Amino acid sequence: MAVRNSKTKAIAVFFVSHAIALVIVGCWAAPTAEQIARGAQLVPDVCTRCHPLSKVHSHKDDFAGWITLTNRMRTHGAQFTDADQAAIAGYLAKTQPK
Ligand code: HEC
Repeated sequence: MAVRNSKTKAIAVFFVSHAIALVIVGCWAAPTAEQIARGAQLVPDVCTRCHPLSKVHSHKDDFAGWITLTNRMRTHGAQFTDADQAAIAGYLAKTQPK
């Protein structure tokens, strides 16, 4: 009985955590107009410190892909908040989609 209970709990935790993840991804997938406008301002500033804007224009991706790529830029030393990153990825996913 105890085993069955913990199994049920584990399954519940699995579904709940996945539901939360889906909600988060769902929010990411639909950037607001404000985020896109903010991204348009941020990219020419934040993304030209190490390479020209043409480097940014050379790449096409969806939102998740731009998040992955900007995470990589962070490892190179790029600095932006998570909110700014969402704005940048939202803007680029719209203007430079996969
Ligand atoms: C601190 C320096 C730095 C900043 C700031 C920076 N980048 Fe980069 N970027 C790099 C380096 C180094 C490379 C080449 C190595 C690589 O691709 O990871 C690169 C390469 C790229 C590429 C080409 C990747 C490919 O696979 O062809 C894109 C696109 C790009 N950056 C986008 C961005 C965007 C968008 C921003 C702004 C959020 C940004 N970068 C800010 C350092 C930076």
